[in-house]
This record gives sequence, C-alpha cells and structure tokens, in this order.
Amino acid sequence: MKILSKQHLRRLLSGVIAVLGLLSLASAQSDTKILIAHRGASAYAPEHTLAAYRLAIEQGADYVEQDLGVTRDGVLVCLHDDSLERTTNVREIFPGRFVEEQVNGRSRQRWRVRDLTLSEIKQLDAGSWFGAEFAGSQVPTWQEAIDLIRGSAGLFPELKSPENYRSLGIDMPSLVIDLLRRNGLDTAGADDDTPVILQSFDDASLRRLADALPTLPRVFLIGTSDRPTLITDTRLREIATFATGIGPAKELLLAQPDLVRRAHALGLTVTPYTFRSSTINSFESLEKEMRHFLFTLGVDALFTDNPDRFPRQP
Ligand code: G3P
Ligand code: CA
Repeated sequence: MKILSKQHLRRLLSGVIAVLGLLSLASAQSDTKILIAHRGASAYAPEHTLAAYRLAIEQGADYVEQDLGVTRDGVLVCLHDDSLERTTNVREIFPGRFVEEQVNGRSRQRWRVRDLTLSEIKQLDAGSWFGAEFAGSQVPTWQEAIDLIRGSAGLFPELKSPENYRSLGIDMPSLVIDLLRRNGLDTAGADDDTPVILQSFDDASLRRLADALPTLPRVFLIGTSDRPTLITDTRLREIATFATGIGPAKELLLAQPDLVRRAHALGLTVTPYTFRSSTINSFESLEKEMRHFLFTLGVDALFTDNPDRFPRQP
C-alpha cells in the first residue's frame, strides 16, 4: 500500500476542511431561519445571566449569544460591557476599584472586568438593576453558560474588544480556543445538539480562530460607524478569507439590501443585529420587522432580545 507523504496528507486534510466549511454554510443558507437569543432572552431577564439564558432556551432559541470578557485572573465571563457598573452593583461593593477613563470627551469612573478577579466579580449582583425578582443573579463564567446551554441550544460567543486585551498581553482567542477544546466543542458536528458559531468585530481574532478551529463557522460583525456604509464586493471577498458569514447592523442592510445577495454569492451567511421591541425603525411591529429581514431580504439568521416573537414562517 502506498504511504501518503505529509504534504499529501496536509492537502487531503485541507480538502476535507473546505468541504465541511461549505456544508456548514449550505445548511446556514437553507430555508430554515436561525433564531439567536441576543444576550439571552434579554428583553425579559437581565442580559447575560443564567436566568436570561434559561428563558431563551424555553422560548425556543436555536442559539444563545454570549459576549465574552476576561477577568483579572484570566477567566472568560459573560458580559457585554468592558466594565461592570451598568449591569451590576459594583459601585456599592467595590467603591474604590474604578479607573477614570475618557468617554466621548468626558471623564467617567469605570469598574473594568479586567481589574477584578473572578471571586470578586462573583460577589456582585447582576440582576437587581433589571428587576427585584432577579436579585442575586451572578455574572456567569463562560463555562457555566456552556454547562447550562449544552444539549439544549447552540452557542454563539462574541469575542468582545479582544484588541484591548491584546494590548494588555491577554490573548483572548487562545482562551476561547482552549475552553472549546476542553469541552470537546472545537469542531463542527462535535455535538449535534450544541453547534458553535464564533463572532467578533475584530478581524485579527477571527483569522486566529480560522487557523485554530477551521471547521467552526465564524461571523464577522460590521457596525454602522466603523466602516463606510457601502460594503463593496472587494471587501466581502476579503472577509470571506477569514469568516464564513457577516453580521451587519440591521441599518446597513436597509441601506443596501442587495448586500444579502452579494454575500450569499460569495458563500457568506448573513446574520444582522439587533431586533428588539424598542428599536423597530419604521416597521409597525417587531414581528413585521423580523419578517422583512428574514423573508423579504433573505437573511439566514438574526439576533433578537425577544426570542418568543421570532417568526418561523413568512
Ligand atoms: O453580536 C451581535 C451584536 O450583539 C453586536 O452588538 O453590542 O449587542 O454586542 P452588541
Ligand atoms: Ca454581541
């Protein structure tokens, strides 16, 4: 029997990876629309708490989103902001632990996640700001979120501000890769009940993830302010070298609805954000807005704070 050389094996492996990637794209671009619970069912429970994730599962989410930050002792936790004061009682519990930062030309006191250890963050109440019935909710570690969601829905983690951590010598993509490996979730199809899709606004991080976890889908987020409104085909082709899909702010798609067709033509999925009852633009209702994006514009999936109102049919 002929023994394959290392070079042949490498070529064979990259062929298999390419086919797997195409298969995952094909399934994401099927007629089945995908519901991502944005920060959990965050219209009804405090964002990024286990209560919000549990409710998202009960409301039928296909995926539950986690925004990820890193504690002072290097643990991935689920939190949208880089700092804790909006969604916890950190001011009260650790009054002296803030830094002064300039935000929009004004000095602000900020209690950054990276400045507190996990055991300190675990002392905070992450539920009372939303409602008294959620008092005592904690900021979950990503591992706690995985343990809760696994088997019931997919995971849709966002690497939040990895460039800020990078400048401090903290390698956020490595932490994400390690934790997925430790959970056996680092390849597509590893757990059919718990698919994983990665997302970030930071292309350098997605490139790292593409190298380390080539079979997992990766969504490149595109905001309204950080890029010109017009996303050219040249830019889409560049994105397709490190991502399997785009996650544009929904306003970008309203401004250029043909972006869906052009992204699909390059094999990229389209997953806009964020759909919530408080910002429905000119639509009559949240349902009508989501229907327009899903069935008129033809997006593959969307992020919503209201998973219970996601329209499965046109
Ligand atoms: O990740 C998609 C969407 O959540 C991006 O916006 O600020 O809610 O994380 P943000
Ligand atoms: Ca997010």
